[in-house]
Order: sequence, then structure tokens, then C-alpha cells
Amino acid sequence: MGSANLDLVVEVPRVPLVGETVLGSDLARIPGGKGANQAVAAARLGRSVAMIGRVGDDEGGRILRDALETDGVDTSHLATTPDVPNGVALIAVGADGDNSIVVSPGANGRLSVADVEAASDVLGAAAVTLVQLEVPVDAVAAAARLAGGIVVLNPAPAPSSPLPAKLLEAVDVIVPNQTELALLAGHHGPVDVATAAELATRLPVPTAVVTLGALGALAVSEGNVTHVEAPEVTPVDTTAAGDSFCGALADALVRGDSIVEAVRWAVRVGAVTTLRPGAQPSLPTAVEVTALLGRS
Ligand code: RIB
Repeated sequence: MGSANLDLVVEVPRVPLVGETVLGSDLARIPGGKGANQAVAAARLGRSVAMIGRVGDDEGGRILRDALETDGVDTSHLATTPDVPNGVALIAVGADGDNSIVVSPGANGRLSVADVEAASDVLGAAAVTLVQLEVPVDAVAAAARLAGGIVVLNPAPAPSSPLPAKLLEAVDVIVPNQTELALLAGHHGPVDVATAAELATRLPVPTAVVTLGALGALAVSEGNVTHVEAPEVTPVDTTAAGDSFCGALADALVRGDSIVEAVRWAVRVGAVTTLRPGAQPSLPTAVEVTALLGRS
């Protein structure tokens, strides 16, 4: 459950500083949005996926719906919102593959608790429910409450206010990056790997998986901390690497992998995602992961 954005992407020599203008490439329009990316990521890895969300009543909305359906995602609970534009993400991708993103939520911001309750059959039957924070937090909390299986929360974008206890109580696995972890844990200052491990043990959820970019990820569960290193790659575009990580984590949890095994798979899928430009076009199949990185 989550957002579906039309990504408006420009490649730039480097991401501009505040107040600076840089010239970039021709504009590319690419299907994205954290919710839709995670849905497509899991579908490309072979899972049966349904998407709960809202698209706009415009070309962007049609592009996003088509993209999901092309990857076999069930869109029965993807509503079209009259007179509201689709969510849009303005993305600058630097030569080092890193990016800067501004999101206009559009229809994503209209996703309601009633929409989620109308999808309670799908949520009740799902082995894993993936949620993020690009849609209203009440809707996220409703999805977590109605989910019958494992609930995975990717708290992205980083929340500007504390997450409701009723949401966190329903979450089984939380997947923040270092910035999101610092905000969730009320920590000021840099978060290195050791600090991330310490902060993650303090989160009020049974399992935390902290993504560390090129350094891999931490699996933190029942007081045990495991650092899983990422394969070495030269990134072209890191957009949606975190989303493919979450989709792969869900894929592995459905398979019955332990959390550490699931993180081992997710760092490989995330790494391969950085090798192609764009959000959804960069999401790999399992065969592509093995072809590019070999067997683990
Ligand atoms: O996580 C990447 C995504 O963030 C992009 O596809 C963009 O739409 C924003 O939601």
C-alpha cells in the first residue's frame, strides 16, 4: 500500500546546492513512487502482488496504472481520483548516481482510511503488507491494523513528527535508512554503523532493518545485530534502490527466510537496482540479480 508517482527525472553533473541552478539532460518521465516501486519490485521477483493506492485522473495516473498492470500487479484497489493530479516526483540525478527528490503527493494525499478498509480482504489475505509514508499516516496505520500477515514499514520519506503508537504497535519489521532512523530515535548528529545498531535496538518494533547504502544493511532482532555487507557495484542511479530492497525483503519473508537471510537477498537486489537508470525500469528479476552478481 502506498504512493504512485510520475517521476520527472533530469540527469545533472551534480545535484544543485540551495540557490544554485544547474543545466541537465532532457527530461525523462518514468513510473515511480515508493508504494508502486515496492509493488513492482516484489512482482518482478515473482510474487503475487496487489496495490492499494490512488492515482490521478490524468495522463500520469494512466501511466502509473498501466505500468503496474504490465508487471502483473492487481490494481483492483488502486482508485482513480477525479479532478486531482497524479503524484509527481521531481528528481535530479547526479553523475555519482545519487539523487535529490521533491514530491508533490497529488492523489496519493487523498488515500483515506475508508479506501484501506475497502481493501480489507486483500490485506487480511496478504502474507506480507508493505507500507511507507508518502500517503496519509492514518491510512498507513489502518493498513497495518488490517494486515493479516507480516507488516513491513519503510518510514520514508522521513516523518516530520513522531509516528503514532497505534501504527508502530502493528509493525513487525521497520526498514529505515540512517537519516530516518535518527529521526525515529530522536538522535541528533551523524549516524555511523555502530550508532545505527544501538539506535535500532531502541525502536519499539520487534525487528529493525537499517539500510546503509553502499555499506549494506543491519538486521536487528531480539537484541542480535547482524551487519550484511552489500556487493560492490558502481551505481548509475540509486533511485528506488531502497524500494527494491523492501520488495526483496518481502519476497524473502514470504519464502520463509530468516530476517538475516532476507536482508542478504535484499542487499543484492538493491545493489542491482542502482545499475540502471530510473525507478521502475531499474527493478530486477531474480534471474537478472544472479546473472549480474552471481550466486551468493
Ligand atoms: O524511492 C524512490 C521514489 O521516491 C521515486 O520513484 C519517487 O517517486 C519518490 O517517491
